[in-house]
Amino acid sequence: MSRFDTQDKYFQKAKQLGYRARSVFKLEEIQTKFNLIKHGDNVLDLGAAPGSFLQYISKIVGEKGSAVGIDLQKIESFPQPNIKTYVGDIFDDKVYKEIGIRRFEVITSDLAPKTSGVAFLDGGRSLDLSLKVLDVCDKYLKKGGNALIKILPGFNEGDLVGELKKKFKSVKKCRPKAIRKTSGESYLVCMRFI
Ligand SMILES: C[S@@+](CC[C@H](N)C(=O)[O-])C[C@H]1O[C@@H](n2cnc3c(N)ncnc32)[C@H](O)[C@@H]1O
Repeated sequence: MSRFDTQDKYFQKAKQLGYRARSVFKLEEIQTKFNLIKHGDNVLDLGAAPGSFLQYISKIVGEKGSAVGIDLQKIESFPQPNIKTYVGDIFDDKVYKEIGIRRFEVITSDLAPKTSGVAFLDGGRSLDLSLKVLDVCDKYLKKGGNALIKILPGFNEGDLVGELKKKFKSVKKCRPKAIRKTSGESYLVCMRFI
């Protein structure tokens, strides 16, 4: 663990509250601002390891809802019965078949590509992931549902936002305070799938 991580106030707070990652505070801020997820929702979380989004989503949706996570890496199991996790690649149809074909009220993506440090390469990978999330929304998001998509800089964001605006009634960019100052990431909050 780096000195930087141990000194970060969000890292410490996540540890105190039993969350598996500091990322949870980005979702918490977005949720407070946009009310993305509602009690009783079924939420699909793409790029879910180690699982702090899932822990937070599980609390919001309660026992009538569910938090379903997919990641390339195995996610340690949770005590909460409304959390289910799957190991798989979001580009591979196998994992959706395993989950069972159904539509979700919300799809969240905190997917992060392996970064190279070269902005246009990393941006290109982030765009590929974002376009795949859009495809997953087409197949598995309910009409009227919401989506959250993390993006990295290095590509023409306007084109992606343009595509998203054809599919959602509202698309807003958000950069929560918990994002490290050194990171260029931000989130697109997409409300009301058409
Ligand atoms: C920043 S982490 C997610 C943290 C998570 N939101 C949390 O709160 O614990 C990004 C994740 O995206 C996953 N990922 C990247 N590409 C993927 C892909 N093609 N399919 C599935 N997961 C992927 C990585 O394995 C990594 O665990």
